[in-house]
Amino acid sequence: MSWTSRKAVVAREDMLPEHRLAQSLSWPHLIALGVGAIVGTGILTLIGVGADKAGPSVLLSFCISGLICACAALAYAEMATMIPASGSAYTYSYVVIGELLAWVVGWSLILEYSLVVSAVAVGWSGYAAPLLHEALGVPMALMQGPELGGIVNLPAIGIILAVAGILILGTRESATLNAVLVLVKLAALVVFVAVALPAFDAANFEPFMPFGFAKSVSPDGVERGVMAAAAIIFFAFYGFDAIATAAEETKNPSRDLSIGIVGSMVLCVLIYMAVAAAAVGALAYSSFANSPEPLALILRELQHPWAARYLAISAVIALPTVILAFFYGQSRIFFVMARDGLLPKGLAQVSQRGSPTRVTLFTAAIVSVLAGLIPLNELAALANAGTLVAFAAVALCMLVMRRREPGAVRKFRVPLPWVVGPAAILGCVYLFYSLPRSTQLYFLGAQVIGLLIYLLYSRRRSLASDEG
Ligand code: ALA
Repeated sequence: MSWTSRKAVVAREDMLPEHRLAQSLSWPHLIALGVGAIVGTGILTLIGVGADKAGPSVLLSFCISGLICACAALAYAEMATMIPASGSAYTYSYVVIGELLAWVVGWSLILEYSLVVSAVAVGWSGYAAPLLHEALGVPMALMQGPELGGIVNLPAIGIILAVAGILILGTRESATLNAVLVLVKLAALVVFVAVALPAFDAANFEPFMPFGFAKSVSPDGVERGVMAAAAIIFFAFYGFDAIATAAEETKNPSRDLSIGIVGSMVLCVLIYMAVAAAAVGALAYSSFANSPEPLALILRELQHPWAARYLAISAVIALPTVILAFFYGQSRIFFVMARDGLLPKGLAQVSQRGSPTRVTLFTAAIVSVLAGLIPLNELAALANAGTLVAFAAVALCMLVMRRREPGAVRKFRVPLPWVVGPAAILGCVYLFYSLPRSTQLYFLGAQVIGLLIYLLYSRRRSLASDEG
């Protein structure tokens, strides 16, 4: 197949039974899946990294990232309801533009989802390790990666394997458990805002923008500025795209996907604004910048140790929902790419319960190695790079389809598409530019490896129908 091949959307009825995923989800499941995927390490941990890079104007970084993500979310909702098939940005690019771009996007999504699973598992371990050390005497060297002087991060690997087990048990069961844990997480953030807000002091916002707006290198060699922070904080906002990868498994895709994607995005933007304003207003940003547990630290500094402990325990209980959602999306991307012939076919088999067991185990093996060995900040920055490429591609697909098939039925239409679409694309490009230089280089390296696999393996085995 040529690299301009476009994939035809195969109706569910025309798929082989072993290639069909069970249709068991509706919009409350999807909002839970979305919020479960979105609220996590970004607001709990990376808010501290953002404060180090932007000072009080980290609030502006939240606004900018949230706005760009919202534009991308709208494009996602339109594409997901037009092409309600698993695989999200990868599938849209394959149908709308062609195989080569689809490969680049699919590879970026694999990078995004695996790195988010690994990053959040490492973040989870950061909270869990002291508890395990205290309760069971587990040596710290076995609970930290080499960069912190440890040997391997076993709790991070353990939580990944546990979540893999839940996914293998079946989709609906795991989505229901996810919904309960989402409530735990939201309750913890509400408690944070309620406790921190009374300590609000406008003086903590002065000077508002100590490192300027655009990315620039500080004397200590760290890249700072509102945009440098936004490029990292971006991690906190995505996750709604994990919903789109579940399209094939929803009962009523057109209604459920638009409510699920737009609803969970709006909810999270509101929650983050409240948390960020409460955090920056309560304490000078420099006291929680770069803390591994900034929100708990703020509560302790405000003399509310009980609230700090409650928040930390909630994080340990609830962060696995983020791992679950991205793991779910990751296994589906592998599944769809294998079904298209771009990855080994043996991966594209579902068990009798309708969940892809092999691909879940395969994913678990890869992401646990990453989580065991690589530092959190590098995992998060690289995950952002992959996500930005996928988001820009989805917005591009939305615009191409508006031009190519203006009359096609759209169950959800982006308002002002020629403003929202370009804003999403240009915003993603600017955020990518604002990432650390080293991340940009790693990302290019990963894409070169991906393209080699495509040229040497996938291109010849592709099963796409050539519609182009
Ligand atoms: N948005 C997700 C998080 O912040 C990836 O953990």
